Amino acid sequence: MTKPRIYITRRLPEDVVAPYRKDLDIEMWSETDVPVDHTHLQKEAVTADGLVTMLTENVDEELLGKAENLKIVANLAVGYDNIDVQAAKRRDIQVTNTPDVLTDTTADLIFGLVLATARRLTEAERYIKEGKWENWSPLLMAGTDVHHKTMGIVGMGRIGKMIAKRARGFDMNVLYHNRSRDEEAEDQFNASYATFDDLLTKADYVVCMVPLTRETEGMFNKNTFRKMKNTAIFINGSRGQTVIEADLYEALIHEDIAGAGLDVFAEEPISKDHPLLQLDQVVALPHIGSASKETRYKMMDLCLENIDRYFKGKSVKTPVSN
Ligand code: DGY
Repeated sequence: MTKPRIYITRRLPEDVVAPYRKDLDIEMWSETDVPVDHTHLQKEAVTADGLVTMLTENVDEELLGKAENLKIVANLAVGYDNIDVQAAKRRDIQVTNTPDVLTDTTADLIFGLVLATARRLTEAERYIKEGKWENWSPLLMAGTDVHHKTMGIVGMGRIGKMIAKRARGFDMNVLYHNRSRDEEAEDQFNASYATFDDLLTKADYVVCMVPLTRETEGMFNKNTFRKMKNTAIFINGSRGQTVIEADLYEALIHEDIAGAGLDVFAEEPISKDHPLLQLDQVVALPHIGSASKETRYKMMDLCLENIDRYFKGKSVKTPVSN
């Protein structure tokens, strides 16, 4: 029997892929750090039975329409806004993502971003490495406290909850906003539900963890930034398109808010000349929320395991169901 043909859109470590070669005919894009060329991907998709994709690939109606044999797309991310899930569903193509395995790692990074922005860690590091440190001084690189402040989590999903858990360890007061109340999370993390407006006006740290959808696109804009405290710090660990970046920039330079910690951007990679990157009160990271070696290996393995299970007639472990 011929093995299902699987195309992976980056070169992944062979030790992750090797165990699956027994039952799957696996080919990979030649590069690890450079995304597959879209035309090349379209060509591969025509004959592939399964794809492993990254968030850099646009798996759209056009691509899916040409992919006559395609049965499954395993996306190496918990977010799947790069995939037209409805178009896949219409063609009976299974989509999977990588929840759970990245939850704690991402929550760690988001908390790191909170601390780095509040306590000016990256700015202080630049200062010392540039040889600018001449004297200890009472307010040198003085930031603002994290402990005992109020954290407002917008999007209390798996990662949001683990951020809440970390916040409790810092004696923070935790507010959250979701489409619906989550009483279990309230009990477990001593978190309080707030309306979006209430959260914006009360939180010292507003953390965006919502998935990117039509409803959440641009939800952080000049109106929302105006409602926040002028001492507030905005953190984005979801997708850049949830924010109108020009409005964020204006809010920062007019001191409507005090700072921003950003792991994601509307356009990635963001240009080094982007206005947001010129501001000391912005800590910027290159979309590394889940980037620990342990977690990225687990994510890669989960993608391949889902594909392997699918072709063995078993249910996939992490289906995207909507
Ligand atoms: C995700 O999983 O959606 C992250 O943004 C990438 O790891």
